[in-house]
Amino acid sequence: MNGLNGSLGSVAIALRTLADPWQIGDVEIGGRVVLAPMAGISAQAFRRQGRRFGAHLVCSEMVSACGLDYGNERTHDYLRIAADERPLAVQIFGGEPDRMARAARMVVDAGADIVDINMGCPVRKVTKTGAGCSLLEQNGGDGACRIVEAVADAVDVPVTVKMRRGARDGSMTFLTVGPRLVEAGARTLTLHPRSAQQMYTGVADHALTALLVEAVDVPVIASGDITSRLRAEAVLHGTGCAAVMVARAAQGNPWLLQELATGLDVEPSNDEVAAELVLYAQAVAREMGERRAVPYLRKFHGWYLRRGRFDRTLRAELGATRTLDDIKRLLYAAAPGACQLVAARAAELDVDDPGDTELGLPVSIYGGG
Ligand SMILES: Cc1cc2nc3c(=O)[nH]c(=O)nc-3n(C[C@H](O)[C@H](O)[C@H](O)COP(=O)(O)O)c2cc1C
Repeated sequence: MNGLNGSLGSVAIALRTLADPWQIGDVEIGGRVVLAPMAGISAQAFRRQGRRFGAHLVCSEMVSACGLDYGNERTHDYLRIAADERPLAVQIFGGEPDRMARAARMVVDAGADIVDINMGCPVRKVTKTGAGCSLLEQNGGDGACRIVEAVADAVDVPVTVKMRRGARDGSMTFLTVGPRLVEAGARTLTLHPRSAQQMYTGVADHALTALLVEAVDVPVIASGDITSRLRAEAVLHGTGCAAVMVARAAQGNPWLLQELATGLDVEPSNDEVAAELVLYAQAVAREMGERRAVPYLRKFHGWYLRRGRFDRTLRAELGATRTLDDIKRLLYAAAPGACQLVAARAAELDVDDPGDTELGLPVSIYGGG
């Protein structure tokens, strides 16, 4: 592993596995696989699917505290929290303590089990407002601490922080600010050990995660380049982190979550890939309506089709669809066994009657970053 001493912490944590339960504050988490927050991706359907495939904790994409506070039309969409996606962390972002505290109360009232604060977003439209990754660097982290204190005072659920290593390449800001965030009330820290400057280039240096684990007495979640069970176990054991978080590798690949959670190598057939994409598309359409679902789903087609052996033209054909029925028709033509699988799974999941579990609460989802 990148820069990590292979024996680091291995004696003390030799028995820790991805299936071991742990806690964030008093919230019980059934295992050590966490599905990451991803703006534009982590819709409710994505989180529920993640839980169904074995992720032990899921997180909403980042929600704008400003948008919540102003009752902004675009921001005030519907976050539907279903019983089967809990425990759920809702992530908020913003640069003003009072506003963040009010936003935190709103998401907790809506049913969030954990409030996560974004201190990692490197996107300029977020950092220029004093939010995201820029918080870590302001006045030696004073602003970040004030936000954690204000949010922790405002809610009675655990408050957590997700951050990058710092703004610039080589930054070690996480190591000075991390312990202060814990003093301010953060019950868990997630580290994506890249700088904001790096965006997604290079590798996530989990030797830094090991340093943070040593420096704080709360659980640390490791985010970045968790792409296989081997890698997940190496990071878990090599750093002493409490859990691993999966983001890009889970896009269109819920089977990876299953592999991490169960230890079983999963190779879905064409029928299973197509069936899962249909189930996912149906869930997304139910959540956000067909008009928004079809463009949202476009990026998922390619991600899913990577898992099977499909005709090259299928991706382009799916990209040109305008309705859910067209998506289904193309997928069933390409993988004829998928239709039966969908019928069987739909009955198991009772997907046509989600009303019992979905609360339909008026909290917003922000699609930026
Ligand atoms: C499309 C996309 C959207 C993201 N949105 C968020 C977000 O809303 N909040 C956040 O804390 N991190 C966000 N991230 C960062 C991921 O949660 C994760 O830390 C990062 O991608 C590294 O993990 P990976 O190598 O497993 O992808 C996003 C990443 C991607 C690729």
